[in-house]
This record gives sequence, C-alpha cells and structure tokens, in this order.
Amino acid sequence: MRWTYCIIWFLYVSICESGPLPDPGPVMYGEVQSPQYPGPYPPNLQEQWDLSVPEGFQIRLTFTHLDIEASAGCHYDSLTVLYNGKVLGKFCGQENSADGHHPGNQNILSPGNRLTLVLQTDDGNPERHQNIGFSAQYQAIDIDECSAPEPRSGSGPLCSQICLNTLGSYLCSCYHGYELRQDQRTCVLSCVGGIFDEPEGHLSSPGYPNPPPHAVDCQYVISVESGFIISLNFTENFQIESLDTEEGLSCPYHWLQVAISGREPRKLCGEKSPGLMVTNSNKVTLDYHIDTKGQSNGWSLDYSTERVKCPSPGSVPQGRVTPVLAEYFYRDYVFVRCDQGYKLMMNGYEIDSFSAMCQSNGQWHLPLPECHIIDCGEPEPLLNGGLTFLSGFQNQYRSVVQYHCNEPFYSTLSGDNVSLTCDADRKWRAINDVTLLPTCIPVCGQPTNLLSSYQRIIGGSDAPEGAIPWQTLLTVDGNRGGGMVIADRWVMTAAHVLVNNGVEVATGIIEVDSSRLSTTRVASIHIHPGYNKLDKLQYDNDIALIKLQDRLTFNSSVMPICLPPDGATYTPSIAGLSSGFGITTDREGKQLITNRLQYVRLPVVTQQNCRNSINALKRTNNQVPSLTDNMFCAGVPEGGKDSCQGDSGSAFALRDDGKFWAAGIVSWGVDCGVPGRYGVYTKVINYVDWIRNTMQEN
Ligand code: ARG
Repeated sequence: MRWTYCIIWFLYVSICESGPLPDPGPVMYGEVQSPQYPGPYPPNLQEQWDLSVPEGFQIRLTFTHLDIEASAGCHYDSLTVLYNGKVLGKFCGQENSADGHHPGNQNILSPGNRLTLVLQTDDGNPERHQNIGFSAQYQAIDIDECSAPEPRSGSGPLCSQICLNTLGSYLCSCYHGYELRQDQRTCVLSCVGGIFDEPEGHLSSPGYPNPPPHAVDCQYVISVESGFIISLNFTENFQIESLDTEEGLSCPYHWLQVAISGREPRKLCGEKSPGLMVTNSNKVTLDYHIDTKGQSNGWSLDYSTERVKCPSPGSVPQGRVTPVLAEYFYRDYVFVRCDQGYKLMMNGYEIDSFSAMCQSNGQWHLPLPECHIIDCGEPEPLLNGGLTFLSGFQNQYRSVVQYHCNEPFYSTLSGDNVSLTCDADRKWRAINDVTLLPTCIPVCGQPTNLLSSYQRIIGGSDAPEGAIPWQTLLTVDGNRGGGMVIADRWVMTAAHVLVNNGVEVATGIIEVDSSRLSTTRVASIHIHPGYNKLDKLQYDNDIALIKLQDRLTFNSSVMPICLPPDGATYTPSIAGLSSGFGITTDREGKQLITNRLQYVRLPVVTQQNCRNSINALKRTNNQVPSLTDNMFCAGVPEGGKDSCQGDSGSAFALRDDGKFWAAGIVSWGVDCGVPGRYGVYTKVINYVDWIRNTMQEN
C-alpha cells in the first residue's frame, strides 16, 4: 500500500479513537470465534465475518481450534474461508479425524488484505452434538511486492533495476551511474546534464564513446553571461542513428537537438560531425534523445565563448575615432574627438565629449557624432567702420576679417588696418594677439564737394550740396541762427544766439524747408562763462557749445569743421569762407531771408583797420559794441559782401593743408555789406582750450 493511504488510515484511526464508530476499519490482527465458543455452537447458523487489514498487507489466518460436525464435503456444517468470493477452504471435522476436512495446523494466507469467514450449521441433527465450533487468530502480513512475478501485461518488472520491499509497499532504485525516471520504476543512465555556465567546457553523450543504453533523454544547457557567444566544436567521432529519406537525412528516433532562443531548433544525427558551430547566442540547449531501439555511439564536444562583436564604428569627417582596433567586442569603448577648429555635434546639439560602448547585443550604444566647423560669431562691430572677410566666410574657423573706417568721413588714428582671425578657441584674435579694435576718427574740414570760387551771402551764392557740411541751422524762439558741427555730438555757435530758450538744431541741410526739417535733440548748452548776456553792447566771448543727445554720423552732407590747428594764423587779406541761412539781398538789392544756404568769400581784415572802422562808427553811434582781442573782422572795404542777421553762430572758415578750420564765429556788425564796415567774428583760436575742456567734461 501507498504511504499516502497510511496517513489517511492513521488519521482515520485517531478519529475512531475519539468516539464510538460502527466500523473500526482495518486492524493489524484479531481473533474470531464461533458463537458461544467454547460452548457448542447453535444450530441453524449462517454467520459471516469480514476481516480486513491495511492495503499492501495479506491476512494470515491461524486456527487455534476447529471442531465442526463432520460430513462428506462438509455438507451439513462448515466454516468457509473466502477471498473475493473465491473459496480458499471449506472446513469441518476434528483434528486427526478421518472424515470431514480439517485445516490441521496449516495457516491460510489471503492473496489480498481481506478475508471472509462464513459459519453455516443445520438443524437436521436429531442427537444434540457437542461440537464447540472454532477459534482463529489473524494478523496482517506484509506483501513482498518485489518477489511478485512479472505482470503478463509486458510492462516489464516492477522495478527495472533494484526493488526494495517496505512495510506495506516497495521502492525502486537504480545502480550507480543511473537515475530513477519520473515513473519511479525504470532507470536511465545518468546524463551528467544540467547547466554549464563556465566560459568553456566539455560535454559528451552518456557512456561516450561507448553506445549508451536505450531510452536516453538528456538535457544540457550552456548558459553564459550576456555579451558573450557560445561556439560548439564537435569532435570527429560523431554517430547518431539516422534515416535516409528523399529529402535527405532525418532524425526520427535518435537526435541531438540544438536550440537557440529566437531560432528554429535543429536536430542533428548521422555519421558526420557538425564540426564548429558558432551559435551567436549566450544560451544553447542540447537535448539528446534515444528511444528504446537502434544504436547511437553518441557525440562529444568542446564549447568555448567569446565576446560579442560590434561592427567597425566607422569614421567621422574632420574627427578621429579612437582607439583603432581590428575588431571591437562587447564592453569596448570608442571615443571621438574633432580636429582643431571643429566641434562635436549630436542631434543638432553641441556636446563636450563623446564615447560609445559596444553593447551585449552587438550594437554600439550611441551612433557616431559629427564634427562641425566652429564659428566665432559676429565680430564686434566698429562704430563708423566696417569689416570685410579677407578669407573664409560665415565667421568660421580660420576666417580672417579686416576692419576699416568709413572713408572718407572717418579714418583710423594710426592708419593701419586691424585684421582678426577666428581661432580654435572661438575667439577673434589679432596677429599680435592684441584684439583692440581701431577707433574711427571723424575726418574734419574736407568736404567732398569743393567750391571753386566763393561769392555772396550778402553778395553770396547758393551753396551746393556737400560743400559746407558743417553748416548748422539753429532756430531759437522762432529766430534764425547758425552753427557749425565740430564733433559728432557738438555744435559750436555764438553765445548771443542762445539768449532765449528752446533751440532747435538741424544739420546736413542746404535748403530750409520748415515742413521737412528734422532736428536733433539737444543734450546741454554751454555758454562761455565770460559772455555777458545782459549787456546788449557786450559781444566779448561770443561763443557757446551745444551738446547733442545722439551722435551724428558723418557723410557728405554732415561733416565737422576742424578746430584751429596749433600755430594757426589769421593772416590779413587771406580769404575765408563765410556761410549761413541769414539775410541776403535780391537782384534789386532788397534784403530778404534766404531759404538756400549762402556762402561768400571774405578776406581777414587787419585788427587796426577793424578798430578804425568801429571807432569811426562809435563817434556818431553810441549803440556800437566794443572790439576786443577775442574778435576779428572780415570783409571788403568797398562793401557788398558780408554776413548778416541770421548768420550769427555760423563759421568763418580758413583752409590750411586742404582742411577748413573754424577761424571765426559770425558775431556782430553794424548793418550788413556797408562800405567801410566789416563783419565782426569771434576769434575761435582764443578758445581752443575752453572748447576741448568743455567737450571733455561734458
Ligand atoms: N548779430 C547778427 C545775428 O544775430 C549777426 C550780424 C552780422 N552782421 C554783419 N554785418 N556781419 O545774426
């Protein structure tokens, strides 16, 4: 019987003990006696005992006494012993009696774990008998399953190799080198199979090189770390039973199956060694199967592993991929560096460095980056200048740019051209490493349009475009005045022009068109501290500076006049250029205000002639201002050519070395163009220090 049953049986017994139950169930031994034993048994009996012991046991019945009325064939009274309805013995009589059928001291062994006793008695006996019946003991006897004959079903012996009888059951076991199969009955040659995880090893079929016994099912799993691939190297000696079919070799009964995940398993058989098999996988499962017939001598192999290979990483234009190896394996790294002047780019972004690893799947974990040429960005712009590419373009590495000033209105101080190169560190560098931009200095006093001859303001001419580009029109409280540009944020004029507030400044015009007059904003006004604006007859220090809010950009229409150069002289009779939008005369000699810039050429008058002329006037007119050393006269004794009202503040320009310089500022006069009188101008050369200081300090 099976062990599981035993547990149920013991459980059952323990439950039985806890309370009264009708069927006590199987027991290991017991006693049976006829009714009223040891008194004589009653007539007309039909009594039955069903004995049972646990499964896996037989019952041995031993009579201690049997005394039943004897009859032929135990016809009248009998004790019948049955197993499964089959009569094992029918007894009557007494020990050593000649008639009846007495068991003597022989035991009865039941084939199974049950036994039935039936006592039958009749009533037809006239004399009262004195037979006392029977008494028997029974006990459970363990069955020796191992010695049982082989069943006729052809399924072979109970245990194919070793049978061990146990109480109520049996166990099968196998000889050394064999393993018990799942059926717990048959043995199979041990495969020495299992899992092989070393990087290399040796495998062979059971019993190799001798043919193994039949019915082999062995599994070998070679499983190594991912990133490695397994190669199987079969030795020459290979033989697995095969069948020749029309389609070639087939392996219907014996085979060695090689299975790699993701691929169709392959069954090997035949006489030819498969040789070297590179599986490209880190796990291979081998199943060796041999059925109960035929013969295969088996196989043997050495396996080895190598790291997974990645494809060659390739190359990067303008870059270097390192290290350069013949082959790249799992866990190898490559690095990419760009040539000087190039930067690493990946997916449109710049990266600092790049490395990629060969992964266990044989792929690089990143695609190679690109090397793009670097650029230095826009070079710093140059005020009033520009730059040109001497070589290269788009500010790329090694481009060379050269700065220049916007000629002819600006020039470099030193005169040399600064050129910069776009460096590998993305900076614009000068050859001498000093990246100081040039300064573009305004060119002064050199109009692009040179007047061939000078005529009229009173008695002047229309100034052409670009001839007097420093000329400035001032409008102060509705009155007209003049001025001159002397720097990109400075206009010089006469102090008396600015006695009223609200000056408007217009530069670069030759035509006064009030509807289109665009003025520049004034930042501050600086009247010479020595100018007395309360005294109408006082014109000493008639000089002022206007600072503009925005820088002027010089061109052919707007250009500063130079300040008096060192050592400049006011040589009498040398002609200067006087200009302005002031009062002019028409053909009939009638005075009118001009809308066109006028100019006239007037010679410098000696200070003595100037003084004589003024003193003569003073004799008849006490409204004539005084001449000082800060003034000089210009004009012609015959009259007809002069500056006039509205010209005040405009320049009287002298020309030296091809440059016009601001010699005078139109200041005052008594009437205009009258013979024997001259126009009086502020002597600018006396104010050069004040001008420079004022410009510097503001
Ligand atoms: N003071 C006059 C003015 O405000 C300038 C007069 C010049 N006269 C001469 N005759 N130059 O416009």
